[in-house]
Amino acid sequence: MITASSSPNSAWIKYWGNRNDPLRIPMADSFSMSLDGPNVEIDIDHSPELVVHSFNPDGTEKILGEKHVARFGKTLENVKTYLAKLEAPDAIPASCNITVRSNIPSAVGLASSSAVFSCLAKAIQGLIAETIELTDDQASVIGRLGSGSAGRSVHGGFVALVAGEGEEIDSAYGKQFADENHWPLHDIIVVPTMIEKKIGSTEGHPTAHSSPHYKDRVDAIMNCRQKECIDAVLAKDFEKLTYVCEEDVLDMHMVMQTSTPALHYLTDDTHRITEGIIELRNAEHLPVFYTMDAGPTVQLICTDESVDRVREFAYAQEGCKVFEAKTGAGAKIIKELVHTERSRSATVA
Ligand code: PMV
Repeated sequence: MITASSSPNSAWIKYWGNRNDPLRIPMADSFSMSLDGPNVEIDIDHSPELVVHSFNPDGTEKILGEKHVARFGKTLENVKTYLAKLEAPDAIPASCNITVRSNIPSAVGLASSSAVFSCLAKAIQGLIAETIELTDDQASVIGRLGSGSAGRSVHGGFVALVAGEGEEIDSAYGKQFADENHWPLHDIIVVPTMIEKKIGSTEGHPTAHSSPHYKDRVDAIMNCRQKECIDAVLAKDFEKLTYVCEEDVLDMHMVMQTSTPALHYLTDDTHRITEGIIELRNAEHLPVFYTMDAGPTVQLICTDESVDRVREFAYAQEGCKVFEAKTGAGAKIIKELVHTERSRSATVA
């Protein structure tokens, strides 16, 4: 049995829309910073059939709907296709027994799926290591098959999901540009509501193509925005990063809002928080920028210099829950339990 741990990432150039929905092959590149928490742990072991258990942050079992279990099943099927391409079709013989322990409230815009599926990818990488040694870029393909953004959280630090070209299962993969020690940043996460969103990103991605603005968005990312973001990170240019990330989040939400059906994830609370932080930034010249995923949650990215002031601002937001994270190291294996023949027969007995 292998136990892995992972955390979400903060997406700065957003992944929205696929060129292949079932395989989650994105239309455009994306970019994020891996976070050091909140974390998810996954135990994985061989099993004749798929068994998935999931536990809430308070330790109670979360009863998973059919859709959720099916997502793990579908991911494992796709992983087998990928392993066949790598000439290790039998690395996972039948199926897996998976136990998820999450400290992340789901569906509040905290990218819990990026943590869960990057964690699963790392656990699978460990489970099959005797048969085939996967690189982290290859493990990121496994993460992407469960949740596109998870392709970025396998690596630590500052990571791109490279869209690549064509329909091959591994044409898009996670690539690290700088590790977690390159630039210590903070993510102060302001959650206005813990109510789960109605349309998750899996259902949202296919709508992207219906927006009249989608093609321009993909072109802008592929022609310059992704590169500008990477350059800003490598140069630690916070001002440039602020500009490019805020441009991208507003662009993604414009696409969402002009799709059919229109997706409105931002609320009055979101706008109040973003307007408040812009005001504070202008008044006090603070290095801080905002970003939102498919939900009303606002992430405030800031430096050591501004974190105290940003924290104060976040905790003053009425009715909001606040989480704090920093640049993180990506998914890792935390426990390995080797089955000897004796322990195997003990398990069977
Ligand atoms: O990985 P998914 O399918 O949950 O999609 C993530 C979509 C966004 O959070 C909106 C953007 C991103 O890049 O994480």
